[in-house]
Amino acid sequence: MEIKKVVVIGSGTMGSGIAAQLCNAKIPVTLLDLKTEISQKAKDKIYNSRPPLLIDKSRIDNIKVGNISDDFNEVNTADWIVEAVVERIDIKHNIYEKIFKNRKQGAIVSSNTSSIPIKVLSQNLTDEQKKDFCITHFFNPVRYMGLLEIVKNENNDLNKINSLKVFCENLLGKGAIICNDTPGFLGNRVGVYAMQVAMTEAFKMKLSIEEADAVFGRPMGIPKTGVFGLYDLIGIDLMADVLKSFIKELPKSDEFQTVAKEVPLIKKLIDSGYTGRKGKGGFYRMNKTDGKKTLEAINLDTGEYSISKKIDLKSDKVDLKALINRKDKYGEYALSVISKIIKYASSLVPGITDKFNDIDEAMRLGFNWAMGPFEMLKEIGVNNFFEKIDSFENNEFLNNLSKSKDENFYGERQLYTNIETLGKIKPKAIKVDKNNSAEIYRFKDFNIVEFNTKANTLDYDSMDSLKNATDKPLIIINESMQFSAGVNLTYTMNFADKGDFKSIEKFIKYFQETCKHLKYSKYPVVSAPSGLTLGGGFEVLVQSNFAVSHTNIVVGLVETIVGLIPAGGGCKEMLWRWSQTDEAKKDPDFAPLQVFNIIGYAKTASSPVEAEPLKYLKPEDKKIMNRNSLFSASKKILEDNRDFKPTKECKFNLSGKPLKEKMINVLEKLYNEKIILDHGMYVGKELANVLSGGNTTIDKTLSEDDLYKLELESFMRLIETKKTQERIKHTLATGKPLVN
Ligand code: NAI
Repeated sequence: MEIKKVVVIGSGTMGSGIAAQLCNAKIPVTLLDLKTEISQKAKDKIYNSRPPLLIDKSRIDNIKVGNISDDFNEVNTADWIVEAVVERIDIKHNIYEKIFKNRKQGAIVSSNTSSIPIKVLSQNLTDEQKKDFCITHFFNPVRYMGLLEIVKNENNDLNKINSLKVFCENLLGKGAIICNDTPGFLGNRVGVYAMQVAMTEAFKMKLSIEEADAVFGRPMGIPKTGVFGLYDLIGIDLMADVLKSFIKELPKSDEFQTVAKEVPLIKKLIDSGYTGRKGKGGFYRMNKTDGKKTLEAINLDTGEYSISKKIDLKSDKVDLKALINRKDKYGEYALSVISKIIKYASSLVPGITDKFNDIDEAMRLGFNWAMGPFEMLKEIGVNNFFEKIDSFENNEFLNNLSKSKDENFYGERQLYTNIETLGKIKPKAIKVDKNNSAEIYRFKDFNIVEFNTKANTLDYDSMDSLKNATDKPLIIINESMQFSAGVNLTYTMNFADKGDFKSIEKFIKYFQETCKHLKYSKYPVVSAPSGLTLGGGFEVLVQSNFAVSHTNIVVGLVETIVGLIPAGGGCKEMLWRWSQTDEAKKDPDFAPLQVFNIIGYAKTASSPVEAEPLKYLKPEDKKIMNRNSLFSASKKILEDNRDFKPTKECKFNLSGKPLKEKMINVLEKLYNEKIILDHGMYVGKELANVLSGGNTTIDKTLSEDDLYKLELESFMRLIETKKTQERIKHTLATGKPLVN
């Protein structure tokens, strides 16, 4: 069955997110609500959403809007009707009755419910109707969350469910996991339990919310919002409703019940409008004192707020063993939380699912965890785990494992999909090298480099791995959220603080040398970015021979924000790309001026469609909706390019002084309008120096090395200034730019 047109009913958070993702997949979609004004407002919200729900804003009119009274006939021609109205069974039942009266014979009908069992949703349907009915549970925000849970009923036409799964994988880019009809399915059942454990243990062990979030975050491979930050983000009131539904649906004996009880502090917060970020604040709040905004955190004992304290656990890496072995309250808390999560998740096997691996994948895709509970168990080690925990009654999975003590219990990964993913092939590949920042795998006759630092920021070791891996065809790809957020600024500042600029220079030279290796390698190099691909991360991408980009990419050269300029070949490559245009052939200053504008303003693109006009991506670069497919698409490029010929060197003719003056005129205008200040002017002039070719004239041909040299010299002059260092420190501390 082919899905050519979709109707989404209910245009709230989820309905509009689903409609936007269908629009991204170029599927015509109609969004219906009680009134057209509501769905029109939703459409406007989609257009202006941040982060953007649309890959290509110009396609917004592929979403049609209407209301369920006048426009219900839209349903007659749809191949799939998604219901995403409020979580009220009476309303949902009424809508199904209407849909099934009007739908095209055989069209699929699904609900986005997060908590109502399919047997309840479908109780009024005939067996014939049930054949085409299922739950499609998307996560918010739909464009960015990978998980889609599909729940079947016993009457389903399995071919149809399977074709829906394939459609959602390939066109909507989702990791579609088929689940049984049990409360919270897989993701929320384990994810919400984990949040509750993290919270109740913090109360019990008297940890501050900052301490709990520091542990139940990055060191555990969990997003840095932790638990209290995540509560604020989701909405404390919404979480209370979710818990009520779990309490109602789950048996009294379920371990979930012990952590789902109402907490007096939470009730007080909700009653006083402290519902999280959307309300007056939550566990954290922003407070304005003396005109300055400060982040405050609540004291779990007293309910009073005070200035939030940064907790430094001195470990940037996910290292569970080290974490649970710490001889302090953080280690104790981590062990208690992790072991409870592992015990609970494993208690659901085989009752809720016989594929424990699906639970892990649901946690990766639906909660952005780096590892699911069973991978955590594998990481800690089976024997080690059983030495550390006491009881595990009625837990068939752990009972069996405690007998076999099989350290290799895990087996294959990502069983839910037929796509050949990076996650599936990694265990079969040979790990040929590993350092602090990256791993090199050999699979068949090619290498894979996977960065593994925080946000995959780059340092000497990352470059070392890339350089060493160019002895074979190479794919640069990873399983974490970001391809690379750029050069590791903390690493750079550590040298700058000591006045050790020689080491910074050595690193940048090595960065350049590595990028040259990537570009001129005898073998093809493919970069497969997803998420942040900024600064140095983009320089790796742009100097790879091929790009396979996920549609959820945020790409750009953002160095000027921190008072630097791209020095790993970013200026050079952008100049080259722009100099290939027709306009550049007529006007030698066209390309440098365009690039000056792009890098000077640190322009970023939040999709390949936005990236192409800036030339961050090329039309021939592959653009892929499903992140899981990045690996197989990259592999195919290597297979198709067995007779690859190394790239030729680029040459540049730049105008030098007169061009630099044009750029300085632009800067002076901005300076006079106070858009940039003194240091902005200084950084801009350095950028102008590089992009105009330095001390050159138009008839002189510059090599790539000449441009690398200009980039390096400017970079070094900038990093040595106090004001650039202030910008970097400010950005590292606050995540925000400093204008100086
Ligand atoms: P919402 O409250 O943002 O939107 C619901 C929309 O349904 C509103 O625009 C409302 O006007 C409309 N509506 C109500 N009755 C209607 C009717 N009879 N006909 C047409 N439209 C009607 O709700 P949200 O958050 O989008 O949730 C929708 C569904 O998705 C619920 O079943 C919820 O449990 C589920 N869900 C929500 C998630 C979330 O994070 N918000 C995540 C996953 C599932």
